[in-house]
Formats: sequence, C-alpha cells, structure tokens
Amino acid sequence: MDRARRKDEHIYYSMCYAPQKADFSDVALIHNCLPDLNFNRINLETAYMGRTFRSPLFINAVTGGTKLGLRINALLAGVARRFGLPMAVGSQMAALESRASETSFKVVRRINPDGAIWANIGSYADPDLVLRAVKMIRADAVQIHLNAAQELIMSDGDRAFEGMVSRIEKIVKTAGVPVIVKEVGFGMAREQAALLCRAGVSAVDTGGRGGTNFLAIESRRAGVNLSPGLKTWGIPTAISIIEAASVLSGKTALFASGGIYDALDIAKALALGARAVGLAGYPLYCLLREGQSALVEKIENIETELRIIMMLTGAGTVTELQTRPLVITGYTAEWMKRRGLNPDLYARRPGDSN
Ligand SMILES: Cc1cc2nc3c(=O)[nH]c(=O)nc-3n(C[C@H](O)[C@H](O)[C@H](O)COP(=O)(O)O)c2cc1C
Repeated sequence: MDRARRKDEHIYYSMCYAPQKADFSDVALIHNCLPDLNFNRINLETAYMGRTFRSPLFINAVTGGTKLGLRINALLAGVARRFGLPMAVGSQMAALESRASETSFKVVRRINPDGAIWANIGSYADPDLVLRAVKMIRADAVQIHLNAAQELIMSDGDRAFEGMVSRIEKIVKTAGVPVIVKEVGFGMAREQAALLCRAGVSAVDTGGRGGTNFLAIESRRAGVNLSPGLKTWGIPTAISIIEAASVLSGKTALFASGGIYDALDIAKALALGARAVGLAGYPLYCLLREGQSALVEKIENIETELRIIMMLTGAGTVTELQTRPLVITGYTAEWMKRRGLNPDLYARRPGDSN
C-alpha cells in the first residue's frame, strides 16, 4: 500500500475512537491554600533546545502527504501560530519518495513562517534523508519516531530494527538541528532513555500508553483481531515520564505525550519532570469534529486551567511547578519501588516555603 493512503487511513481509523486520556490518577499535586502569587503573572513559559516558548504545549506529529493531510496541516499550523506552539509535521517519507506531496508539508512553514516547526521521519532514516526532510520545511528540529509495535502489526511493516541507536548517533552529528526521539504511544523505559541520552539527542518524547493506540488502529485497518492483552501493550504515560526523568541529564530535554490534553494531567506531567507536553490525537479529533475555532477555544481553556492549577500549587512558573511535592500511590508507586525508584522523594520535595 502506498504511504500516502496509509496516512489518510490512520486519520480515518483514529477518528473511530474519542480521544483517550492517559491515567494520571496515581499522581496527586498538593493544594496550597496560601499561594503568594498574582494570577495575572502566572507564567507558562518553558525553555528547551535553545529557545523559550510561551507555553509548555506542542502539537505532535500527525500527517502530510495527501490532500487531507495538507488541509489538516494548514489548520493545525494556524493554531500553532496563534498560540506560539511548536508543531511537528507527520512522517515526511511520502514526500521524500515523491516530490508531488511536498506541498502538504511545506504549507506548515508557509502559514507559520517564524514558528518552531519540527520535521519527522522514522528511525530507519539515514542522515541524508534527515537533511532532506529538514530542508523541505526549513525545520527548527527533527523528530525521529520509534514505532516498532505499530510496524509489527502492519502486514507490510518493517521487521528489521537493528542499528537504530547508531543511526540516531550519526543523525545527531549531521542533522544541523536538534534531534528529538519520540515513541508513538507505547512508552519509553529508562534503559532506552539513557541510551538516547548517551547518543546525544536534544530531547526524548516518552510517548506513553494511554492515548492514541496504534495497535488498535493498525489491527482495525488490517481487519485483524488482536487479543485484548496485546492491545494494552506499553508503558503507561505517567510511568514512562518517571522512568525517563530518572536518567536524563540536563542536556536532554524531557517531553511527555500519549493521551495528555487535560490541564490537570499536563500539570502533573510537568511536575513529574517534562519540559513540554505534546498533543496529537486530541487536536486532530477536535479539528475534524468541531473545526478550527473550537480547537482554538479548547487550547485557550487548557492554558487558563493550567494557570489556575499552577496558582493553586503555589507555582508561578513551570520551573517552580517542577519543584512542587507530588504524592504517587497505587500501581505507579508499586512500579517505581520494583524498579528501584523512590516515590517518597517526590512527596517530600520542598517546593518553596509557602
Ligand atoms: C492520525 C495520526 C497519525 C500520526 N502520524 C504520525 C507520524 O507520521 N509520525 C509520528 O512521529 N507520529 C505520528 N503520530 C503519533 C503522534 O505524534 C503521538 O506520538 C501519538 O499519537 C500519541 O499522542 P496522542 O495520544 O496525543 O495522540 C500520529 C498520530 C495520529 C493520531
């Protein structure tokens, strides 16, 4: 099947499910009844990869390569521009194979000439393909996606995954822009996050389980009945952030994604250590079901609620939010203990004297 058609089918099948929300119920922020702050000065800015962004949100990779992809990319780029959010395009492989579909990616740069735009390609890519993908949209960074689980369900998907880390190392040296390595919804354990950190990537996006589920999408697309157990494969989003945060050094930024779009979950992801939070399935769903202005309203609401939550934890900035105590219980705490991580260290974080 040609890549472009597959991209449209991903949109079609992802729209069969209402956006799924990752489970952050084991993680609690603590209410501060004496916040010594002015709500009008709560600051959502976050800094990574040499730039400061006005919000910790970004629009994660979705599409490109077809007429529908062009329309969606244009609308998402308009929203990204309005809010100053970085935006990743979907996999550019279709346009690297056939120049006819380049417009569906270039439209993002045309609509948002000065915005942060990220190229996107799979981990099979060699440095030359990455350079072409970056050049195509004058990208500020490139995302390399890891999607072994998805490929294995596709009848024509990749089966050979050797050499990914050494390819990524080479890409880091030659890309000329920051390299972000992302999972697409099955999460990242700390061992792989550590490997990527050593490979010199600028950011990892843990892309945990709980949001868009490519095992469900691909099996439905292929008409294959996956066992219910396999459909739940992956590291849950909250746990994946904790795993990666435990090994990343300051040089590698931590991004979180996978079913995160509720303001409280965004606040928890940031408090667990994420520098930014990516949204894919949710903005796509809102855009196609309700239109661009509804999506604008939803992002406005998310940012307002995030400010309210920050205020109520006594955090005036995202950096301060990352010092607030968090109580981690249940399955997540149990997982941490079995993996040698101490949930009590989060609960006893000092925050400030407030
Ligand atoms: C329709 C659709 C197409 C996607 N295509 C890509 C892609 O081309 N490249 C990529 O890196 N991720 C792709 N993703 C994955 C998202 O960027 C994200 O990692 C994943 O959906 C988890 O986030 P979510 O739960 O917010 O959707 C796609 C997601 C959706 C819903």
